[in-house]
Amino acid sequence: MTTTNDPTAQTLERIGAKTPEAVAEKFAEVRRRFDKEATDSSDRERLQAFVLRWTGRKAGVLTQITDNWLKPATPELKRVVGQELNKLKAHVETTLEEKRKEIETASEQTVTARDKIDLSLPGIERAFGTRHLIRQTFEELQRIFTAIGFSVVEGPEIETPYYNFEALNIPEHHPARDNMDTFYIEGARSSYLLRTHTSPMQIRTMEKEKPPVRIVVPGKVYRRDNPDATHGYMFHQIEGLAVDTDITFCDFKGTVDYFAREFLGPKTKTRLRPSYFPFTEPSAEVDATCHVCGGKGCRVCKFSGWIELFGAGMVNPAVYGFVKYDPERLSGFAFGMGVDRLAMMKYGVTEVPLLFQNDVRFLQQFP
Ligand code: PHE
Repeated sequence: MTTTNDPTAQTLERIGAKTPEAVAEKFAEVRRRFDKEATDSSDRERLQAFVLRWTGRKAGVLTQITDNWLKPATPELKRVVGQELNKLKAHVETTLEEKRKEIETASEQTVTARDKIDLSLPGIERAFGTRHLIRQTFEELQRIFTAIGFSVVEGPEIETPYYNFEALNIPEHHPARDNMDTFYIEGARSSYLLRTHTSPMQIRTMEKEKPPVRIVVPGKVYRRDNPDATHGYMFHQIEGLAVDTDITFCDFKGTVDYFAREFLGPKTKTRLRPSYFPFTEPSAEVDATCHVCGGKGCRVCKFSGWIELFGAGMVNPAVYGFVKYDPERLSGFAFGMGVDRLAMMKYGVTEVPLLFQNDVRFLQQFP
């Protein structure tokens, strides 16, 4: 590198300046480089690296200039190099100080902006949801029955034909199976189906528990109906079962009356119409006097004065055989209510789809 023995010329060469007057220009170049890097060092991390690069004691740019340009300089050059170096150092120092402050306030500002709460802003009003009409009806039904000693149990929606039919005294090819067009799972006729009623839980409960039994079973059931204003392929039932050593038809009628008064009002009367279910004997359809007209006849009861509540009956002794209950010693009654129907009737809803579309304008009517 060195092409001359003149120490002044050697220093100038290291600096890259042709004449002593050009030294200042070299320093200005360094300074421009510094300024550019300073603008680029806009966050804490980059600033740290930048400071080290310029003021690092061992390898920082300032140290290198001191070691390579200043120290070996001849006395006549030392003055100008020293002066320039001092100016550069002062510039570096003030710039770094400014940079630090800048970054400090910026981060302080984000912190305070984050923490600042504008108390004059209106609050966020959260909309209150309501329980779905079906849920409310379930809760009311459960309240009515738990008040007289029934407990609530739930069971599987995927059932076997045994629990859904056989053990309920509905053998294969029995015409009662036709009324409940069944969803079978993967066409496997013999293995699983979606329960068509909550009655399988009568069997499951009696299999597990010794009498006395007093349960209600809320839940979803499925039937292959064509969906229309009064049908869906899924609906809700609540099953009831009471079995003990001394349960009579009077207990059954008394419970039915109690339920009707609780659910539809204290003046409500009931009547029983003969019906048929393979798992009850005798079976009945329970009607109540219309809660709208009180029995005089109106649009709701189709001018008959009566509305149909649910199917029920005394447990068929044949069923006890399936759960190893003694039919000589035990008796009981069972009922199965269509919860959606009861809810619609009580609250004057005319279309099943309204119950499941979850339109808030509908739902909000039942706070
Ligand atoms: N499981 C019957 C149905 O879904 C209703 C019912 C239950 C009838 C219990 C009598 C006793 O239609």
